[in-house]
Amino acid sequence: MARIAIVGVGAIGSVIAALLQSTEQHELVLCTRRPLPRLDVETPGRSIHVHYTNITAPSQAQPVDWVIVATKTYDAPGTAVWIEHLCRQGAPVAVIQNGVEHRERFASYVPADRIVPVIIDCPAERRAPDSVHQRGPVELFIEADTLGRSFGMIFDGSGAQITLTADFLSAAWRKLCINSAGSISALLGKPAGVFQDEAIGRATLDVVRECAAVGRAVGAILDEDLPQKVLAQYRNFPVDSVNSLLADRLAGRPMETDARIGAIVRFGQQHSIPTPCNSLLLSLLEAI
Ligand SMILES: NC(=O)c1ccc[n+]([C@@H]2O[C@H](COP(=O)([O-])OP(=O)(O)OC[C@H]3O[C@@H](n4cnc5c(N)ncnc54)[C@H](OP(=O)(O)O)[C@@H]3O)[C@@H](O)[C@H]2O)c1
Repeated sequence: MARIAIVGVGAIGSVIAALLQSTEQHELVLCTRRPLPRLDVETPGRSIHVHYTNITAPSQAQPVDWVIVATKTYDAPGTAVWIEHLCRQGAPVAVIQNGVEHRERFASYVPADRIVPVIIDCPAERRAPDSVHQRGPVELFIEADTLGRSFGMIFDGSGAQITLTADFLSAAWRKLCINSAGSISALLGKPAGVFQDEAIGRATLDVVRECAAVGRAVGAILDEDLPQKVLAQYRNFPVDSVNSLLADRLAGRPMETDARIGAIVRFGQQHSIPTPCNSLLLSLLEAI
């Protein structure tokens, strides 16, 4: 049994809490900014009522065995004080976020060798602070080092697909390539149906090609036909499906533009790979 704290109990943090509860192995501590008296997660198979201790101030935190951070990328600085209290005895921190800079983002708060970067595939949204809809199965991509393996093991019996990979870099850039296309619909303010348009399709291929070129320059191994696969994936989504960047824009929340498009542009500059499409998308979305 492990005592596990989750910081960032939104869509993904709640899905993770429900998975961990389903193992019937762990004690959960949910760290929230406002009291969270109950939490229900509707998964594709069943509805899970999560049992936990809730704390709303870092000063209430006792040391735990694991900390899982599942905030939006731009909220990383706000987690520092939670990490400081929860990790007083050296607990490792698993960062479940999009982007390719998990360790860099948390380097000021946790020693790099205690950070486990995690990529999650799972469509989920919050209907209300205490109610989350998980719309599909969960797959976690975790680096296959010692700490990553032990993080994967806390999900034993949960039903989540755990993929331990010796090449986390490629997994993270592959996901970034998929996410890069989402910035087009976020800019247009239109759901996935927009990808059916031929011209938008060509623009999508250009955006994803740039991301893949930067990823390869950084060292990721990415299929040559990844841009075509990404476009086909978006064209297969229900026409009204909304990616998280667009969802944030429509809800008036900040968008993870820096961790997603910003990273493509930054790494492109570092490796002398031109990224004109992504640079334009970044400036336009940031102007919004
Ligand atoms: N949702 C998806 O389908 C999906 C799929 C794959 C990957 N991801 C990635 O997973 C990450 C999390 O996304 P999400 O959709 O779960 O975001 P979300 O629903 O917006 O949840 C983020 C949570 O973090 C909390 N938070 C922020 N700062 C905090 C702080 N200082 N202390 C405590 N809690 C804090 C927020 O609390 P408040 O309620 O107080 O604002 C919110 O509950 C992102 O990087 C996202 O790109 C999401």
